[in-house]
Amino acid sequence: MRTQVAIIGGGPSGLLLSQLLHRQGIDTVVLERKTKEYVLGRIRAGVLEAGLVDQMRTAGVSERMDAEGILHRGTVISYGDTQINIDFQAHTSKSVMIYGQTELTRDLYEAREAMSGNLVFGVNKVEIKDADTTAPHVTYEINGSMHRLDCDYIAGCDGFHGVSRQSIPKTVRHEYEKIYPFGWLGVLSETPPVHHELIYASSDVGFALCSMRNAQLSRYYVQCDLSDSPENWSDNAFWDALKRRIPEEHADVLITGPCIEKSIAPLRSFVCEPMQWGRLFLCGDAAHIVPPTGAKGLNTAASDVHYLSQGLVQFYQSGETAAIDAYSAKALERVWKAERFSWWMTSLLHRFPDQNAFDFRMQQAEVAFLRDNPNAQAVFAENYVGLPY
Ligand code: APR
Ligand code: PHB
Repeated sequence: MRTQVAIIGGGPSGLLLSQLLHRQGIDTVVLERKTKEYVLGRIRAGVLEAGLVDQMRTAGVSERMDAEGILHRGTVISYGDTQINIDFQAHTSKSVMIYGQTELTRDLYEAREAMSGNLVFGVNKVEIKDADTTAPHVTYEINGSMHRLDCDYIAGCDGFHGVSRQSIPKTVRHEYEKIYPFGWLGVLSETPPVHHELIYASSDVGFALCSMRNAQLSRYYVQCDLSDSPENWSDNAFWDALKRRIPEEHADVLITGPCIEKSIAPLRSFVCEPMQWGRLFLCGDAAHIVPPTGAKGLNTAASDVHYLSQGLVQFYQSGETAAIDAYSAKALERVWKAERFSWWMTSLLHRFPDQNAFDFRMQQAEVAFLRDNPNAQAVFAENYVGLPY
């Protein structure tokens, strides 16, 4: 089989790239290890920056998002007794949209299928070959038989545990990593959200986040030990922990109910440089991970897809390689800024096991500065709604 761009991984990065390229007349094949049902069973974050909302529109897949997504013009930061309302609209004239990543992925699958996009599920043993030549190809096994996909370019959109990043020689690759000494226990519950805006709350017993999917579906998180497991948490224990961490006025009106999903995610910051090797380009979680505190994971994947699709469109329209040659540097510049914001928010709002009295005072001073300084709030808002592409 031959295609112009072989895309490894059918998560949001791979699907959005495939859809944007298809609309510019560029042929792709998406190779996904799992089934569609498995991919759509994963519960992930749900905050879309204005730039990703625009990309969904450009990709022609925004109908349901525009009908069901909820625009948020601000957020609440709570730290002990301090509450700060950050008004995104006032500071940036932009909002974010609440729309689950699972729904966004479902819309992209439907669009690719409606356009007879070539999606191959259940592929094993994917290997990237000759990426540093002008004739790259990918081999894979499906139902016990081997296949070969020849292409002009390969997009590695196969997430943190994929093969693409590992295919860049160790002598070329530099990896930067920070592991945080806690995780997030997340639950989904069929209850109305406690507040119309998201609440990021830091208390003396740890961090909590109140988020939502829609008027009847809430998503909540509490900071937990890395060694913890969801089975240790009854629904009641979860609600009690949440109530102790959020402002009293919200705890008092929190509607609780059965938790329909409970899982623990570790927190990590990770960046791989460069994001290109020959004709292989890394996109999304394959190249970088952020802790979820700033909701930047999906959004940073989307900015990679933006730069890469533009570069590939330029190449297929004019034969020019300037934009794809600049891909890694351009994508990484924005990635590092999203890493910084996610690390900063994580450091500001969590209790660290080794935090001493000085560190604690620094958090308090930082929060007081954010509370009292409109410029600091503007900087927060600018980062949260998403830096320009
Ligand atoms: N071959 C084929 N597919 C693979 C392979 C492989 N060797 N390894 C992984 N995959 C698939 C996974 O099954 C998954 O569906 O690649 C896909 C990668 O998807 P994600 O992990 O969701 O990564 P990405 O598409 O970059 O999405 C951006 O940012 O912070 C996150 O939650 C956010 O998942 C979101 C991500
Ligand atoms: C979510 O809704 O799951 C969510 C929202 C904001 C975050 C992280 C996760 O920062």
